[in-house]
Amino acid sequence: MRIDVYATPDSAREKDLKDRMVVVVDVLRATSTIITGLHNGCREFIPVIDIEEAVNIAKNYERDAFLLGGERNAQKIEGFHLSNSPREYTRDVVEGRTIIITTTNGTKAIRKASDAKEVIIAGFMNVNAVCDYIREIGEDTAMVCAGTDGRFSLEDILAVGAIISKLEDEIRLELDDLGMVCRYLYENNEDDLERILRGTYHYSRLVELGYEKDIEYCLKMNTAPIVPIYQDGVIWNIGNLRD
Ligand code: MLT
Repeated sequence: MRIDVYATPDSAREKDLKDRMVVVVDVLRATSTIITGLHNGCREFIPVIDIEEAVNIAKNYERDAFLLGGERNAQKIEGFHLSNSPREYTRDVVEGRTIIITTTNGTKAIRKASDAKEVIIAGFMNVNAVCDYIREIGEDTAMVCAGTDGRFSLEDILAVGAIISKLEDEIRLELDDLGMVCRYLYENNEDDLERILRGTYHYSRLVELGYEKDIEYCLKMNTAPIVPIYQDGVIWNIGNLRD
């Protein structure tokens, strides 16, 4: 199986993702938030680019059926119910609800892959579940890192490295150069991911804003063994039957 890795959404051309199996990673924090919400029983996420688009979509829902979530500059958006802190997406808050989410980089990366054959949402929290799924599908895969403001983020590279490393335990992979870098960095730092991340741009920004606990939460492996899939504009847990 061939794996191609894109350090940012902009580095992937349309034809790199079209009709392919795509995995999107935004460890800090959009994909970790989406995985958490679905693991805690929310109905679905609708990822959108603009605040205005989110508010307009919300108008189609009954008051208790939806929540607005996300961030700008890593902070809660005025008038929204939830920020982009995964720890806010607890079962008592999200169960059964549709969450309309907009984030600076993560939801853009997901939407960029709209023409893919399948889009899977990944982070450290669901590495093993995503690997099982990729193996089962058995197709060449593109991995897209959301990065931060158009530049790559080390935490996404490490999570892709974790997926590649785990996949390689059981199947033979053909990797591009960035895939090799991801695997190398992960395997040389897997015992203490925080050590290598300290001082990186987005990590430091989240620490400054008081979100250390989110970082700790997002870096834990396999705490939410589900596979979220993005299809027809909506992200849902592939383990749940759709009505
Ligand atoms: C994003 O999509 O840019 C992020 O997930 C930022 C964050 O809230 O940490």
